[in-house]
Amino acid sequence: SIYTDYFFDEAAFNTHDGGYVPLEEPDIPQQPLRVPPLLKPDKETATDTYYTVEAQAGETQLLPGKKTKTWGYNGTLLSQTMVFAKGKTMHIDLKNSLPELTTFHWHGLNVPGPYTDGGCHAPVYPGQTRHIDFKVDQPAALLWLHAHPCPSTAEQVWRGLAGTVIVTDKQEAKLPFPRNYGVDDIPLVLQDRRFHEDNQWDYNADYDPDGVQGPTAMINGTINPYFDVTTQRLRLRILDGANRREWRLHFSNDLPFTQIASDGGVMPEPVEFTHLMLTCAERAEIIVDFGKIKPGQTVTLFSDDVPLVRFRIHDYQREDVTLPEHLVDIPDPEVTPGMPVRKVVMSGMDEQVMIDGKKFEMQRIDARQKVGNVELWDVSNTNDMDAGMVHPFHMHGTQFLIVSRNGKAPYPNEHGFKDTVGVNPGETVRIKVWFEHTGVYMYHCHIIEHEDGGMMAQIEAYDPDHPKTYKLMDMDTL
Ligand code: C2O
Ligand code: CU
Ligand code: CU
Repeated sequence: SIYTDYFFDEAAFNTHDGGYVPLEEPDIPQQPLRVPPLLKPDKETATDTYYTVEAQAGETQLLPGKKTKTWGYNGTLLSQTMVFAKGKTMHIDLKNSLPELTTFHWHGLNVPGPYTDGGCHAPVYPGQTRHIDFKVDQPAALLWLHAHPCPSTAEQVWRGLAGTVIVTDKQEAKLPFPRNYGVDDIPLVLQDRRFHEDNQWDYNADYDPDGVQGPTAMINGTINPYFDVTTQRLRLRILDGANRREWRLHFSNDLPFTQIASDGGVMPEPVEFTHLMLTCAERAEIIVDFGKIKPGQTVTLFSDDVPLVRFRIHDYQREDVTLPEHLVDIPDPEVTPGMPVRKVVMSGMDEQVMIDGKKFEMQRIDARQKVGNVELWDVSNTNDMDAGMVHPFHMHGTQFLIVSRNGKAPYPNEHGFKDTVGVNPGETVRIKVWFEHTGVYMYHCHIIEHEDGGMMAQIEAYDPDHPKTYKLMDMDTL
């Protein structure tokens, strides 16, 4: 069957918020979609990969006329795509060439917190370089890199500090998916911006405590893009990289598409849709089959009724592929006996946002969970429909499983690993959580202004036989 709705509560869509900024179709000529090139390793062996990632400021031609002042990784905006092969050991130099402190957070990556994972306790000061090493130990997926200095994560991401990371593994490599990067396998980073005078961005002018938005969609750092399709099937690795915008995606003529992966990797079963909503930081990998479209035609990807990307269909070789009904096995470990259900409450709007009635404090550890324990977390959003929004709940340091939504089955594309889940107003989402590494990990709403505004907490994953202490940053030392 093909699902045709967005599943989230329609009354909670961001379009209903008083401060909502609707998207507008850009009034500039179409431009080729930028596809981030693959980042060239400094060195690579059969077992190890070495990268340098440099945060830098620059200018990017986004609109005709003046260039826009932007920030990026190894470039002026966003990043080049990094490939982390499962089983390899990565060695990364994180270089800060910006005029202010930043951190390099690997969203979705299963590495120890709070330093390797690059949350707010891992600052890199201007002119300095931090080095991290870790082993890639998780399934193939689209992850991302973004700045995470508290409390200016939102502004730094807005300026352009976000990038794409592809984890590869042998299991995914055997599945009949397109994977010719840049040809039939492309990332789509969905963001939105407002252009002010001289084509500049102005975060402070656009500030909204419920999340900064702009009327212009920016896809991989391209305004009004098209993409030339030369294959029958196209794999889109979609990331909602916006500060607060939800994307309600659909193609011209409701062309169906198949979701094959969610945040943490390939899903147990492919799911067919005509419509798909993503909340902030969520990823969906979809395969679009243009087999019924004639060369010369264009298929447009929309959010609500605004065009995002125009796919121009060229001659392609016929390639009719039926995906297997079962893609991968997802482990579903038993809950550790005797563990109470952990409760997490996201409340408030605007400046009032909190977790469990508290605002984030860098030096306060809010919860502890033993490494290896499998626990149920009930994550609630106490907003009500008329005065609330969907809060995308994100956890560092783990990929979780969604057990239920208000006691009912999760959405059909929520059976795989997730690190971010949109929680509707008045809803409790039950998730199953375990940590593999000791460390301190943040969990928060991924509307980035809510996170910066304090809708964030941190948990220590501990091993009683090897107690550790952590040097936690102090907000004031920023
Ligand atoms: Cu996308 Cu705390 O992270
Ligand atoms: Cu994260
Ligand atoms: Cu929120």
